[in-house]
Amino acid sequence: MRKKDVENFKKERDYLNDMVMKYAKTNIKRFYNLDSSVYKGGTLSKKTKELLGLVSSLVLRCDDCVEYHLITSHEENASDSEIEEALSIGLVVGGSIVIPHLRRAFEIWDELRCKDFDSLLKKIEAVVKKPSKRDEKLQFICGLLSGKIEHYDWVGFYISNNSKRELVLGPFVGEKTEHVKIKFGEGICGQAAERQKLFIVQDVSEEKNYLSCSPKVRSEIVMPILKNDKIVGELDIDSHEMNTFTSKDKDFLERICKMVVKIF
Ligand code: SME
Repeated sequence: MRKKDVENFKKERDYLNDMVMKYAKTNIKRFYNLDSSVYKGGTLSKKTKELLGLVSSLVLRCDDCVEYHLITSHEENASDSEIEEALSIGLVVGGSIVIPHLRRAFEIWDELRCKDFDSLLKKIEAVVKKPSKRDEKLQFICGLLSGKIEHYDWVGFYISNNSKRELVLGPFVGEKTEHVKIKFGEGICGQAAERQKLFIVQDVSEEKNYLSCSPKVRSEIVMPILKNDKIVGELDIDSHEMNTFTSKDKDFLERICKMVVKIF
């Protein structure tokens, strides 16, 4: 575990820059100006430039510079795969000697991504409290999740009709699906409803009891929404990547479902 988190890193960096500026004269100031202007968006976007900065910092094995460019790439909405691809170039160019720095880089990236989850949860909590209709709120949540989380390609809610023992498609974002009604026990959604338990399938081609919505889907996670120990709905997420759902997704979706149950 790191001793210093991203917030403290930023504070220390600002403090040290103030120290430099206290004594800096023209040459140092000129260099600082050049350093900030070179990363401004031009023919190459700001994000691309930050990723280039990240690669060179990794090759040069400067942990502070790696952390700085991870933060700025994150501010430019770089995705997990963009960071992974940039760092993999740094690894190939720099060789195995950069591996300790690569480890730290991913730890920092993970910290930044966890903060994203926290801020999404805050937004969801706020929308749940709004006086608008339930489906409008659920639609907003679907848009937020599919827009902000790279591996969430289809996000939707199923509403449970317990007397008919079936799930009815509610608000969703993603490709249209023919599975607008699903019987308990059928498919991944139906199995999750029947068992009232989370269902994760890391490779849908291995699951026999599966209802395909699109050939692009590789993995799926279904979190039941339980009210007084009874299912009232489900949050269903499909991904075009295999083996993509982790315990982080599970915890995240669990927290979302605990919030949305209030509007069921
Ligand atoms: N794949 C699901 C059906 C719902 S779609 O993914 C939207 C299942 O097997 O239950």
